[in-house]
Amino acid sequence: MPFVGGVPRIRHAVRGTLTRAMPRLAREPADSLASLGVAAGGDVVRLRLGPFRPYLVTHPDHVQHVLRGNWTNYVREGMFWRPLNRLLGDGILGDGDTWAGSRKILQQVFTAKYVTSLAGAIAATIDTRVAELDRHASTGRPVDAAREMAAIVNQSVVRVLFGDAISREDSERLITAYHTADAAVSFRLLMPFLPYGIRVPGDRAFLAAVRTVDDVVLPVIRRRAAGTGADGDDVVSALCRAHAADGVDGVDERRVRDDLVSVYAAASETTATTLTWLWPVLDAHPEVADALCDEIADVVGSGPARPEHVPQLRYTMMVLSEVMRLYPAGWLFPRMAVADDVIGGTRVRAGSMVLISPYVTHRLEEFWDRPLEFDPTRFEPGRAERRHRYSYFPFGGGAHQCLGRHLFTMDAPLIVASLLSRYRPVLLGEGPYTPAPTALLRPARRVRLRLRQAAAGAV
Ligand code: HEM
Repeated sequence: MPFVGGVPRIRHAVRGTLTRAMPRLAREPADSLASLGVAAGGDVVRLRLGPFRPYLVTHPDHVQHVLRGNWTNYVREGMFWRPLNRLLGDGILGDGDTWAGSRKILQQVFTAKYVTSLAGAIAATIDTRVAELDRHASTGRPVDAAREMAAIVNQSVVRVLFGDAISREDSERLITAYHTADAAVSFRLLMPFLPYGIRVPGDRAFLAAVRTVDDVVLPVIRRRAAGTGADGDDVVSALCRAHAADGVDGVDERRVRDDLVSVYAAASETTATTLTWLWPVLDAHPEVADALCDEIADVVGSGPARPEHVPQLRYTMMVLSEVMRLYPAGWLFPRMAVADDVIGGTRVRAGSMVLISPYVTHRLEEFWDRPLEFDPTRFEPGRAERRHRYSYFPFGGGAHQCLGRHLFTMDAPLIVASLLSRYRPVLLGEGPYTPAPTALLRPARRVRLRLRQAAAGAV
């Protein structure tokens, strides 16, 4: 889900008329796209980013058209995706026949039943990793929220994807490699037209990160494929079984690798980033923090949080849904139009890029009352039915709809409940916390927390 940055001399058009726009787009892409979308009131907006002129599509009807109604015309190809291909390969985050094959396999894996079958193991993994924060709680040493959220999520995602087939050390190498790749690719995302023959800043670090990922992942695939590893309940095993006859001598290692690496990318950083935003939000809304802690105390007590608690953590899920409304981790997903089309009266020519952004659509006044206010009650039971399906789409929609919703809805409340049944995190430092210009919607400032034991009282 790449971020698309701007370059100087940006102009925009509302319904075809070009007007001078803001260099702010390069610095604060999410908020400047939101300003453009809000100003256009849901009309299709055309941007001029140097030689590119992508369309910003924000109205829920138009989003539905691109992601669902005419989705085969809007593919995940083109310059903005290419830089990521060197990490993700050609699989579930691609398009066309290979994507369709991967989708068929993976959607049979990531069912509610499968996630439920692993829920006990996921909860235990989370509890063990969260308990390691005790040393910070006892010394008062601050923690970096993004780092800790990534480490906790990583343990549970690794459990689901790899079972017990990789060591803790290797799983931590994966976090570092993905972080490095994410930061190192930003120059290419900003300048996607530069040929790969030309070295640009970040290339060396990016390629080294890809090698680290392969060093960790390929041996596991080979062991599973050779049948020397346990034929487990993990995703590597499922992928090896599905691709058992696709390669020259059995399992098609490349296909398994590309899907595995893509699912890891789709699952871990998105969940960790969502949980990172939670802390500045709770700090700014103490009444929400109190209600959240009350629910967790009622349902989970002093812990540990278990899968059977999850359905009762209703307010927790409402808070997470509202966090994803204002800060959707996958904030921008570009598509390329295959053939000419018309979206909301605007003609879109074949080969043009179309930008879809939940960050922008979730802020449109036409569809959200007081859109900038954080209010979890929007997600009270029964209220979703009154909304346009595509006014809220943090998990995308249509054929490429996220496959990780069941996993997220198990993982994220367990992590929040596990943390808040043990600790009362106190945010250190001043806001405002605004989005960084990165592929995923991360806070631009470091989110630092001091953890107090929950028993020692609320913030
Ligand atoms: C807060 C957490 C998450 C968010 C915000 C999120 C968001 C998204 C979005 C917006 C898409 C659509 C991308 C597009 O249309 O181009 C997507 C696709 C996907 N997500 Fe998630 N995701 C999350 C968690 C997960 C998890 C836990 C998994 C683990 C299985 C996962 C696996 C995938 C996969 C495999 C796809 C590609 C589906 C396809 O193209 O067919 N995601 N996600």
